[in-house]
Formats: sequence, structure tokens, C-alpha cells
Amino acid sequence: MTTIAESPACPSVDRVDALTPVLPVLGHDTPAPLVDGRRVPYANLDVAASAPALQAVGDRVTAALPLYASVHRGAGYLSQVSTTLYESARATIGEFVGARPDDLTLLVRNTTDALNLLAGCVPAADGTPGRVLVLDVEHHANLLPWQRATDATVLTGRGTVAATLEAVRAELAAGAAAGRGYALLAVTGASNVTGETLPVADVVAAAHGAGARVVLDGAQLVPHRRFSLAQTGVDYVAFSGHKAYAPFGAGALVGRRDWLDAGTPYLAGGGAVRSVRVDGTDWHDGPARHEAGSPNVLGAVALAAACETLAAVDTVALREHEDALRARLVDGLEAIDGVEVVRLWPDAPDTVGVVTFTVSGYEPGQVAAYLSAEHGIGVRDGRFCAHPLLTRLGYRAGAVRASVGAGTAGEEVERLVAAVAALVADGPRADYAVVDGLWVVVDDPRPVPEGSGLDGLLATAGPGGDEAFACVPD
Ligand code: ALA
Repeated sequence: MTTIAESPACPSVDRVDALTPVLPVLGHDTPAPLVDGRRVPYANLDVAASAPALQAVGDRVTAALPLYASVHRGAGYLSQVSTTLYESARATIGEFVGARPDDLTLLVRNTTDALNLLAGCVPAADGTPGRVLVLDVEHHANLLPWQRATDATVLTGRGTVAATLEAVRAELAAGAAAGRGYALLAVTGASNVTGETLPVADVVAAAHGAGARVVLDGAQLVPHRRFSLAQTGVDYVAFSGHKAYAPFGAGALVGRRDWLDAGTPYLAGGGAVRSVRVDGTDWHDGPARHEAGSPNVLGAVALAAACETLAAVDTVALREHEDALRARLVDGLEAIDGVEVVRLWPDAPDTVGVVTFTVSGYEPGQVAAYLSAEHGIGVRDGRFCAHPLLTRLGYRAGAVRASVGAGTAGEEVERLVAAVAALVADGPRADYAVVDGLWVVVDDPRPVPEGSGLDGLLATAGPGGDEAFACVPD
């Protein structure tokens, strides 16, 4: 029997101990079938796309399920309980990101939803849509809403943070000098491609100095660093539950009330209105204005549970854990011939656990397919919904992205580094081909779920036992 400590692809016991997950997540021991018939624990290195649920989130949702009933709409006891759960979740979520007393916390689906909502609330000037300044480094969620609903200018990022900030300041000043000042500066909290951040205090000073507000795309930042609207002066923050270990369909937009109360109601429908006549509608202000339809109470409860759990974690321990995982990924990958790690800003003040790389001689899709099929590792490949950035940096064909979080173990990172080293040294063992634009294993023998999924997968996943949980020997 191969044990984790004995396997040649595995780190030493000490290293595993040093990189022990900070929080328990669900699914960390899910067996993943390999093309050679073995099974290994699935290594989820795609946390930046969708993070696994925290154990505490699963427990809270399970506890809330029997209490579930209609929110804001029923006189029944459980409707009152569910309404209380929903509104108390709202308060917890706002508090987690340091909402000021007059800020609104809107419960939405995800970051994309939040930023589309805010795009309908940027005040118009002289009858024309408000101006928004955005960098080309952004995820499409923080680019397309501004381009569609506002007068957006997309500024090309520069090779350093210092030069990028200088360009932002110059553009904001030029807008103000021309009498068409920007209303809003929309920036990433941490890049979903490189994990790099901008200095928030400098961003806020630049924007506020030119009369603009700041919205932070917090999707990649909020689950990994403590963030506070009140402390930073950022005007709005958007983030997603599914990236914050709460994959139940809720996210949040938190920030200044005035624009949100005056903006276009995001969803037209029941709950958003005070009264409706055939010739006109009297819309609510406050959160209700933008939250038409039956609210996602379980999503809100899940996100609040994640916020409470993350707020209670030792922030230094969390940061050290994720920094150590990231450092091991970068050092390990860069030591392999032909592997290049994508960087944006060498002077970034901080970097979260997102590492994007290319492997010479292999398309990103094939690397990702190989990591899954031969090593049970999940990563993302492609252009990461950041096409302008990948194009500008010269990665038109995309790249591979590994990302970690509070529930990631050191062994998973070591497995990725060893797997990429084995690919470069020996090539893949299976045959791969592009089918319908995707890299797949030729004659893939692995079981796939059928119907509702679970029965088909579990019934054909092969024998259990200790060997199913051994690291992949290379
Ligand atoms: N926005 C997510 C990502 O960057 C899906 O992968």
C-alpha cells in the first residue's frame, strides 16, 4: 500500500503539516478516477473559479432548510423566520466588508450581477450616461457592464503598478479638465489572472481627488484578505458567494446608498414596487428596489455563514497559508524548463493565490486535460474571461491557471508541480485530441455521471480502500 508520506510525488510529512488547510471544506476527499483505473483524492486547484463549500456553510444550510419558506411575502411563522434569516444574513454580509452605517447591502447572484446592477445606477450628466474609467486588466464582469450601460473608457494598463496609477491619475484629471469628469473608477481587487492587487489607498485617493467614486471587483480579494469599505474609503464592493466558499447562488453589492436609491431598478417585478398602476409604477428605494422576485434566502444564509467563518479565522494564519501555497506553486513551476508564470505588475503590493502559467510545447487545454486525467487535479485553462488582458500580454491561445484557498492542502500543490514536471520530462501517458474545440482523452475510460449524476459516478468509480487515496506516483 502506498501512503501519502511514502509516495515519491508527495511532500514530506512536515511540509504537509505546515501547509495544512486553515478551514475544512466539503469534497476535499472526493475520489477522482484516473485514466489508468486508479482513483486519487480530487485536488481542487480551481478555487478562483468556484471555491468548495466550507463545512460550516454546509452545516448552516442544512440547519436552515427545514425553516425555509417565502421571504417578505408570508404571514406564516416560517415565512417570518425565513425573512429574519434573510435580513440578518444581509446585515452579516455588509458587516463582513465593513459597510458604513448608511451603505446598502444588496443581495444579488454574483459579482457579474452586482456590477451590472451598479452600471444602471451611475448618475447621468447633462442627459448623457455617466462616465466610467476601467482598466483593460479586468475580468469581463468588470468591463462589459460599463461598456454596455455607461460612457466607459478602457485604459490600457502599464507594466508596473506605479505607471498604471500614473496613467489612471492622468486620465481622471483629463476628464475633469475637459468638464466631463468621471463618475466612477472600476478596478479589480485582485486580478483573476495573476492574483496581483493594486494599492487600494492610492486608487481611492486618485479617484476621489478627481471627484470620482471607486467600485472594487472583490471577487478574488474578499474571500482571501480582510477588506473594509469604511477603512479604505472604497465606495462600492462586489463579490460572489461561489468564490467565497458559499456556492448557493448569492453574491453581494455593498456601498453608497444615494446612487442605488436613485438608479434604475435592476429587476422589474414583484417586491421592488410600492404600487403599480397601468400607467406607472412607484418603485421602492433601499434593497427592495433592486431585488424583485422571491429572494434567495438559502444563498444569503450560506454567504453569511461563510462571512462569519472567514471573519473568525486568524487573518495572519490564513494569509500565511495562502502565501505559502502560492510561493510553492510559483517556485516549483518556474523551476521547470519551459514553464512560464504570467505576471502583470512586478511591483504589486500583494498577490492572492492565483498562478497562471504556460508549458512550452503544450496547448493550455491539453495541460488541463492531462492534469485531470492522469493526476486528478482540477485547474482552469483558456483566457479566464479576461480576453483583453491575455491578448495584450501575448497569450492569445490562453494559459493554465491554478488557484488555492483556505481549504487547499500543500499536498495538492506539490502534486501539481510534480505533474507538470512529469509532463515536461516524459510527456503524457494517454492520447489527447481536440473534439468540438476542447482537449479530451481519446477513448476516455473514466466513468461519467449519468442522469442526476451521483449514482452513475459512485457506482462505477472502482474499488475504495486506502490505495484510492494515495498520491499519484510518477
Ligand atoms: N470569474 C471566474 C474565473 O475567473 C469564473 O474563473
